[in-house]
Amino acid sequence: MENHGPETYGELNADIYDEWHSTLDPTEAVEALAALIEEGPDGPVLELAVGTGRVTIPLAARGIDLWGVDASPAMVERMRAKPGGERIPVAIGDMADVAPDTDARFAMVFVVFSTFFFLQTQEEQIRCFANVADRLLPGGRFVLECPMPDVARYDRNQRVEAHQVGLGHVRLTTVRHDPVEQRFEGQHVLITDRGIRLAPAFLRYAWPAELDLMARLAGLERRHRWGGWHGEPFRGEGSYVTVYEKPAASDG
Ligand SMILES: C[S@@+](CC[C@H](N)C(=O)[O-])C[C@H]1O[C@@H](n2cnc3c(N)ncnc32)[C@H](O)[C@@H]1O
Repeated sequence: MENHGPETYGELNADIYDEWHSTLDPTEAVEALAALIEEGPDGPVLELAVGTGRVTIPLAARGIDLWGVDASPAMVERMRAKPGGERIPVAIGDMADVAPDTDARFAMVFVVFSTFFFLQTQEEQIRCFANVADRLLPGGRFVLECPMPDVARYDRNQRVEAHQVGLGHVRLTTVRHDPVEQRFEGQHVLITDRGIRLAPAFLRYAWPAELDLMARLAGLERRHRWGGWHGEPFRGEGSYVTVYEKPAASDG
C-alpha cells in the first residue's frame, strides 16, 4: 500500500493514542504475563511493539528485566516521558525482525492487543514467528493476545461506526475489509469545528489456526489458548490469548 511502512501507525496516532485508549486497563494482562514469566526460564522479556508503554511500564515495575521494540519514535518518546518508561531499553525497528540491535535470547516474547496484526502481510507474520523462535531460550514462550476477526460486522466489506457525537465534534471509524488478503483498512475520523483529524489503522488479520500453523513452521508448540487473561475457555469470539513454547530440548 502506498507510503505505508512499519512506523506509519505510530507516527500518525502517537498524540491521541493514550487518550483514545484510556479505558483499556492493562492490569489483567500484567498479572497473567507476570505469572507466565515466573514459571518460565530465567532471562529477559521482550514486548513487540511497546507503543507508549501501556503494558510494559507496569510489568517492568515488578522488577522484570523488560525490553521493547517499536517502529515509531513518536510512540516511544511518549513512553520515555512517563515515570519508569525511561528505564526500559527500546530498539526502534520492525517487530518482524524482533530485536534488531541485540543478539540476546529471551525467556518470553509477547505482543498484546491487536498489535501482531499490524504486520501487514502473511509473509511478515511468518517471518516474525520464525525470528521469535530463533530468539527464545529453550522452554521460552511467545504470548500473543489477538482479537478474533469478526467479519460479519462488515456489510459488503465495509463499515462506518459513530463512536461519539457531541455538540462540537463527531468521532467515527470507517473500515474497508479485504477478505482475500485478510485486511482491514481503517481510519478514525475526528470532525470538530477546527477541522478533520484522521488516524489510520491498517491491519492484516490471521485466524487462530493460521497462527498455530505459523508457530508450527517456526518450531513452536502451543501450550495454551485462553479466551482471556484469566485462562477462560476460548469460544471463538472477542480477544484471546495464545501461549506457544520453544521445546526445551531444542538446540536453537
Ligand atoms: C495499537 S499500538 C499497541 C501499543 C502497545 N503494545 C499497547 O498495547 O498499548 C500498535 C503499536 O505497534 C507499533 N507498530 C506497528 N507496526 C509495527 C512494526 N512493523 N514493527 C514495530 N512496531 C510496530 C506502533 O508504532 C504502535 O506503537
